Amino acid sequence: MDKIVIHGGNRLKGEVKVSGAKNSALPLLFATILAPGIHRLSNVPALRDIATVEKLLTILGAEISRKDNEFSVEATRISSVEAPYDLVRTMRASVLVLGPLLARFGHARVSLPGGCAIGARPINLHLKGLEALGARISLDHGYVEARARRLKGAHIHFDLPTVGGTENIMMAASLARGTTILENAACEPEITELAEALNSMGARIEGAGTDRIRIEGVQELKPLEFTVMPDRVEAGTFMIAAAMTRGDIRMSGVRPGHLEALISKLRETGVEINFEENGKLRVKGPRKVASVNIKTLPHPGFPTDMQAQFMALMAMGAGTSVITESVFENRFMHVCELQRMGADITIEGNTATVKGVKGLLGAPVMATDLRASASLVLAGLAAENTTEVSRIYHLDRGYERIEEKLRGLGAHIERVSEPM
Ligand code: EPZ
Repeated sequence: MDKIVIHGGNRLKGEVKVSGAKNSALPLLFATILAPGIHRLSNVPALRDIATVEKLLTILGAEISRKDNEFSVEATRISSVEAPYDLVRTMRASVLVLGPLLARFGHARVSLPGGCAIGARPINLHLKGLEALGARISLDHGYVEARARRLKGAHIHFDLPTVGGTENIMMAASLARGTTILENAACEPEITELAEALNSMGARIEGAGTDRIRIEGVQELKPLEFTVMPDRVEAGTFMIAAAMTRGDIRMSGVRPGHLEALISKLRETGVEINFEENGKLRVKGPRKVASVNIKTLPHPGFPTDMQAQFMALMAMGAGTSVITESVFENRFMHVCELQRMGADITIEGNTATVKGVKGLLGAPVMATDLRASASLVLAGLAAENTTEVSRIYHLDRGYERIEEKLRGLGAHIERVSEPM
């Protein structure tokens, strides 16, 4: 297994390009199941999760070819409707095949994803929505079996704004007979992007990006030609890297509207953030960041995917920061590793109190989930001496060549292969 070794203390300077968004590329690739023909997707990031999608689509019968970040998916000859356990358990987003398979073939058999490090992450709301569209759902040996002659439009109200649930229902309802109204839908930018992509395939979706989405079903869809938007979480992670190292970086490819809550909070800590005329985002870290409180919420609130990274920043704050995680029930796995680096953090339920310390100390630490591993890398960039982050396969799920990009900004960082 690989590890990342960081000699902390360098101030990050220079320019870095943000890759395509993992959490948009995943649903967009699954949307290709909806229509026969050759789909083309550009700016797809080279990530472990994308490789998992490639495997899954191939198992279903799609033919995939890719060159760098350009994907083409021939979805005419999809012959299987089963997403196997060994793939779904490595990437829960695989449940996003449910809606497209049901909509196009009237049948889907998908392994229940099971829990993951950050929480139980059930899919009950996905299934409730699909049943409302007329699917007959049964559980069999850990698999969800879903069948429907033809889905029909329905008025669905989600108990909570689930991103994946919204994506599954949008894709399923695109080919249903009649109109679907989805209330309390998720409003993340990835939802808006998926709706734009589906509409470019001939779907009729309005209201994406708000909590009420209207989908008028159509008879068939045509192949997708689309470019994936920049990854807002990768961008946010680099912003915090600059903030933690008193750095001065520029990023290309960041959409202002995608990170308003994070930018507002970072400015409160004293980080200078400006969009320049050329569309580049400039981020300058202060000598010492002020401590501020955050509470994660569905978009447009503070994104849960930036909580671990922000906590690493607050670990070096000038005061005390209270961080509340309201989206997932167990997204503090990075805390004990940060404590090994000298952070002063106490947890009470879903709230962490972070007392800023003068500086962090390098240490061997272990990644437990994708964003926790990012927060450990960030802490290592700012810490004295050397930090070794092991189990970085978690990191590779969602960050494309992160050590190369950080080295390009002046970090002293390398990937080392560890004997198995
Ligand atoms: C998406 O996960 C993202 N993943 C996550 O990013 C992100 O943290 C999350 O949305 C929230 O923004 C992808 O897009 C691939 P949810 P998803 O359904 O769709 C509960 C990362 O680091 N829930 O919005 O699984 C659930 O347990 C990943 O890139 C139900 O109870 O998130 C959670 O507490 C991590 N029943 C909350 O809703 C359901 O049927 C939000 O989950 C569905 C969800």
